[in-house]
Amino acid sequence: MHHERIAILDYGSQYTRLITRRLRELGAFGLVYGPNATAEEIGGADLRGVILSGGPNSVLEDGAPGVDPRIFELGVPVLGVCYGLQLMSRDFGGQIHRAAKREYGKATIEVTDADSVLFQGMNSEQVVWMSHGDHVEEAPEGFKTVARTHGVPVAAMEDRARRRFGIQFHPEVTHTVHGNALLLNFLHVCSMKLDWNAGHFIEQKIESIRKQVGNGTVVLGLSGGVDSSVAALLLHKAIGDRLTCVFVDTGLMRKDEMKHVQEAFAPFDLKVKWVDASELFLKELHGVSDPEQKRKIIGRLFVETFEKEAKATNAKFLGQGTLYPDVIESSGIGGAVLVKSHHNVGGLPERMNMQLVEPLRELFKDEVRRAGLALGLPEDMVWRHPFPGPGLAVRIPGPISADRVKILQNADDIFIEELKLSGWYKLSSQAFAVLLPVQTVGIMGDERTYENMCAIRAVTSEDFMTADWARLPHELLEKVAQRIVNEVKGINRVVFDITSKPPATIEYE
Ligand code: XMP
Repeated sequence: MHHERIAILDYGSQYTRLITRRLRELGAFGLVYGPNATAEEIGGADLRGVILSGGPNSVLEDGAPGVDPRIFELGVPVLGVCYGLQLMSRDFGGQIHRAAKREYGKATIEVTDADSVLFQGMNSEQVVWMSHGDHVEEAPEGFKTVARTHGVPVAAMEDRARRRFGIQFHPEVTHTVHGNALLLNFLHVCSMKLDWNAGHFIEQKIESIRKQVGNGTVVLGLSGGVDSSVAALLLHKAIGDRLTCVFVDTGLMRKDEMKHVQEAFAPFDLKVKWVDASELFLKELHGVSDPEQKRKIIGRLFVETFEKEAKATNAKFLGQGTLYPDVIESSGIGGAVLVKSHHNVGGLPERMNMQLVEPLRELFKDEVRRAGLALGLPEDMVWRHPFPGPGLAVRIPGPISADRVKILQNADDIFIEELKLSGWYKLSSQAFAVLLPVQTVGIMGDERTYENMCAIRAVTSEDFMTADWARLPHELLEKVAQRIVNEVKGINRVVFDITSKPPATIEYE
């Protein structure tokens, strides 16, 4: 089945994938092509429009990527964004002002033509996000300038007869207040049917997984997190029993984690190897207190355990639930700092000489959740908070022991249960308990106690790069503290963490 499609030529902007995301939000499917894509490559009965993306180059430079002129003869509307606008201006004979440096930030544009197609139904003044060096000084023949800013005479231009449009700003970035409305106006010009949804995404991915894998087999590390769970269900739908999942219980997971994941997956009939390696992990971690050392040991043991199980399956392919934000974080695209080199099973594919299958690679987290719901993943799995690979080891500052892990599991379980009961679990982005290496005096019945202190932390966050502490109600905090102290042997004091990130991180180590 071929779905109506917008072709997006990627000139290298860090925002190109955000364009596809916005289109999906509006119900349209966009497919990204390289900058040298030809009219033949992108053409077809399902093509409804073309978007030329932004990019870091200047169109006036030697060797700057161009656009195949026959793309304009395909008979579909074209929208140039930033670099794309400048390419159109250059190729159609407009005037470009060469700038010495890039400027970026919010700008206010003034729409100067009430009949504008792109700005139909919008205010004449609006805030947009600019990021450019050069700008168009004069629109090419056939185009009408329809918006300007203080410093940019052609912020938007339209050739309505030929259905060619250009904008100097980025509609895909949330700072552009009416970005989605503008893209929607463009989609209307394209006569695009707006019916794209998670179901279509799933059908399309099933097709592409089958194409990639052929009659080969895939092995996937299932952690019970949203990403690996959705990837597993999708792969299973595509290739059935030729997918083997490996779940490694590191002994550092949440209370009854393996049982919980087993129950959630029971209805799906997946082939899963449930590996209880907790004894091995806890033995090697016993007494270790250096955070980096903990991570190293866990990483090594995980890889060894997973590798052994994966090898036994003889699979050629390694499935992974990599999302688009992970791709950015681990490649440093767009200046993102390399924060998650420890992410998932990094290094495994090279080590084991395997080819990656990553069906979620272009999706953002909320889209993965929607795909999970469409695949029938239970709600409580879909809305799970993220959980770090090293697990509770980084929530027990100081030396690890099996006893301390157990104490923390019990405290954490109570906290999460109360959060869910009160509705605050969904209102938080991540929440957990931490077992502090501090003992304090308490009194229980007639006896003095000298036990551990437990911190509880709940944060709200968009992207986990920054986070604020969740304003949990006092009554809820009281209940959690009471229950933990009464029910968990080994804890006699509970504190609530009220630091934001930065300066604190979300985890404790
Ligand atoms: P921080 O503590 O850096 O956490 O503010 C940001 C997000 O990353 C998670 N995190 C990790 N995830 N391995 C992981 O897989 C790790 O070593 C690790 N450290 C932190 C953390 O839970 C939060 O969601």
